[in-house]
Amino acid sequence: MGEYILAIDQGTTSSRAIVFAKDQTIAGIDQQEFPQHFPKSGWVEHDLEDIWRTTVETCRGAIEKAGIAASDIAAIGITNQRETVAMWDRATGEPVGKAIVWQDRRTASICSALKEAGHEPIFTERTGLLLDPYFSGTKVKWMLDTVDGLRARAEAGEIAFGTIDTFLIWRLTGGARHVTDATNAARTLMYNIGENRWDDELLAILGVPAALLPEVLDCAADFGTARADILGAEMPIYGVAGDQQAATIGNACFAPGMVKSTYGTGCFALLNTGPDRVPSKNRLLTTIAYRLDGETTYALEGSIFMAGATVQWLRDELKIIQHASESGEMAERSDPEQTIYLVPAFVGLGAPHWDADARGAMFGLTRATGPEEIARATLEAVCYQTRDLIEAMHGDWPEAEGAETTLRVDGGMVASDWTMQCLADLLDAPVDRPMMLETTALGVAWLAGSRAGVWPDRDGFAATWARDRRFAPQMDAETRAAKIAGWDDAVSRTLSRR
Ligand code: G3P
Repeated sequence: MGEYILAIDQGTTSSRAIVFAKDQTIAGIDQQEFPQHFPKSGWVEHDLEDIWRTTVETCRGAIEKAGIAASDIAAIGITNQRETVAMWDRATGEPVGKAIVWQDRRTASICSALKEAGHEPIFTERTGLLLDPYFSGTKVKWMLDTVDGLRARAEAGEIAFGTIDTFLIWRLTGGARHVTDATNAARTLMYNIGENRWDDELLAILGVPAALLPEVLDCAADFGTARADILGAEMPIYGVAGDQQAATIGNACFAPGMVKSTYGTGCFALLNTGPDRVPSKNRLLTTIAYRLDGETTYALEGSIFMAGATVQWLRDELKIIQHASESGEMAERSDPEQTIYLVPAFVGLGAPHWDADARGAMFGLTRATGPEEIARATLEAVCYQTRDLIEAMHGDWPEAEGAETTLRVDGGMVASDWTMQCLADLLDAPVDRPMMLETTALGVAWLAGSRAGVWPDRDGFAATWARDRRFAPQMDAETRAAKIAGWDDAVSRTLSRR
């Protein structure tokens, strides 16, 4: 039997595949971006055939780059962009239109109508989520309501729904398995996270037939076998988790009180709350961190929609940098006398504000303000928003105050020392950057590798987590308080409901 693990990381803008060796080092990696479709303002779609093609090609590419045979792979782990909705014909595997991406805002009016009808409390109590277009449930409803004849076909059991993990597993197993894991199910607005089952009452409110839904398994389980004609050899799929939960696992945040924050397109911070399902008073999400051996570990999650995407905006729209990596150097050169705030509400604000109608704003501009100051304000905004999430977490779960509050970080932006120091300063807490920055893929590789018996158990894996660098807070309390007060003021002036 092989000893390598193939981790598939199907993200919002690219598909990636990483082959990990038994010692958890990377043996081969491949990545492909794929087109984004914006058919109307606020709509974001993916072509499922692009997702499938790039996934298969990057898997083959990573195996080739690792210089191994497909039969050397012991197991596959899949992690994925969460909440994105796919539907396909069970008989042909043909997608029903394009996938509706998590960022898509088209169901804002469905969410408003459900809220006006007084349904938000039951959704929050059962799913830990809020009525926001971000989650899958209203997107499924939208498709059933608008695609001709789809509802009847769904009720007749002809159609399958899935998040991206489910779609990939369906295809990899040649249609043999229609399954997902508890973390992906937890983001659909249809899954009861306390009782670990699809919730009939919520399905009835949304008008979604149960016949559409996949079976929900633990994160380390037998998800089926990828066919030999697809990847070159049969490979069991033993691990699945949504990407933010996979990063939580990859950063070994297994103890209650541990927090990780991932800086990709957006920023997603998860606080492990152990077996306790902690309801949020501060409009954070309560979600499943992972489910292993039938035991659910919960998390509080704060989701920010624009993090790395704001740096992309500096590059692609303002054109004041050529590479994302320049932003930290520019911030370092900026004029410390200028206090500029950028509130990156480009697509509204996520946690803890959940203001879909807010739009971005900059405050404090003077005639001396230049690209350097704007770059600094961009990076600082990510740090201020992270701080808002951590504060909200402490408010929701006071145990977090006493427990370990060091933040473990990952994602592209954490390569910037300047940004990580700024984060530690504004949080007034240490920030730990791991040696292994492919944390998301690592998390799901561990799920698959431990189930396959080639990787260590949870404690053994946690012991291998290694720090590249700790950023300790250096800012004095007075400066921090003044900066945070300015940020709070900027946000309050940006909200659509003031
Ligand atoms: O909830 C959305 C999240 O899973 C997307 O992550 O890394 O693909 O932007 P990413």
